[in-house]
Amino acid sequence: MTRSSAPAKVFLFGEHAVVYGEPAVLCAVDRRVTVHAEEAEEDAIHAEDLSVTGVTERGGALTGEADELGYVRKAVEKAREEAGTEAAVEVTISSEVPVGAGLGSSAAVVVAAIDAVSRELGAPLEAERVAELGYEVELSVQGSASPSDTYASATGGAVYVEPDVEMRSLDSSGLSFVVGYDGGSAPTGEMVEGVRRLTERNLVASGVVELIGEVTRSGVGAVEENDLDMVGELMNLNHGLLEALGVGSTSLARMVWAAREAGARGAKLTGAGGGGCIVALGGGPEVLAGVEAVAEEAFRVEAAEGVRQE
Ligand code: PMV
Repeated sequence: MTRSSAPAKVFLFGEHAVVYGEPAVLCAVDRRVTVHAEEAEEDAIHAEDLSVTGVTERGGALTGEADELGYVRKAVEKAREEAGTEAAVEVTISSEVPVGAGLGSSAAVVVAAIDAVSRELGAPLEAERVAELGYEVELSVQGSASPSDTYASATGGAVYVEPDVEMRSLDSSGLSFVVGYDGGSAPTGEMVEGVRRLTERNLVASGVVELIGEVTRSGVGAVEENDLDMVGELMNLNHGLLEALGVGSTSLARMVWAAREAGARGAKLTGAGGGGCIVALGGGPEVLAGVEAVAEEAFRVEAAEGVRQE
C-alpha cells in the first residue's frame, strides 16, 4: 500500500496566454489531493470526499461515464505502462481542492495518482517524469492543455513555464496568498475556446495575449528579486487583461476588489476564469476577512512542496 499527495496551484501570471506559447508563473499551494494505491485483483477507483473533475461521487464510490473517469483511469494506465507491468490497482482519492475552480484539481489528482501507483508497482519516478506523464494524461483527456498545472503540482513551489522552451523552479520564499472561491466553476475547455474565437476575430485581443506575456516576463523578474509590491502590481495588470479577454465575472471582480480594498498587494482571478477562484498576494488577516465577506469560501495558502509520499 502506498499513499502520495500533490498540491493545488495558483497562477500568478499568464493563464490563457500560455496556451499560445507565452510564459506563465505559477505557485503550488498547500491544499492537497491524496491518493492511496494498493495492488488488487482488478482496477477500482474510490473517492472519500470529493468529486474529481467530471467524476461524481455516490456513496463513496466513483461512478460515471467512461470518459468522466478519464483522468484517474488514464493516470493509472500511464503509471502501469511506465512500470512495465499489468498488475491491477485499487485507488482511493481524497481532496482539499475545489473542483474546476482554477486551482488545478485535475492536475493534482493526476500527479498524485501517477506517483502513488508507480510506487505501489515498485517503479517510483522523479518529479519531472511524473510531470511529463501527468501532462500526457491531461492532453489525452482534455484534448488541449498546457504543461503548467502538472509541472507546478509535481515539482512544487513557484515555477516558470514557457511551453517547449523552458520550465524551472523559482524562489518562492515570502509568497503567501489568500484564495477566494465563489463556489462556482466554468469548464476550462469552453473558456479557452472563447478566448481563441475572440483572438481569431479581433486583432486587439491577440495583442492582449502578447501583453499578458509581457506582464509575465516582468513578473518573473519581480518574483526572483522578491519585489512583492511589483509582483502585486503586475497581478493587478494581469487581471485587467484577463477581463479584457472576457474571462472575468461579477463574483470574481467582487472578490478581487475586496482583496485590494483590504490591503492585498495585488489580486487577480486564477485559472480559466468565468467563475471559481481569485488569488490575492499578501495573506494578512484583514485580506482574509475582506475576501471572506464576499466569497463563498476564503482561505490562506502558502507555497507548498510538490508531489510526495505520505
Ligand atoms: O482553470 P485551470 O486550473 O484548469 O487552468 C487553466 C489555465 C489555462 O491557461 C486557461 C489553460 C491551460 O491549459 O493552461
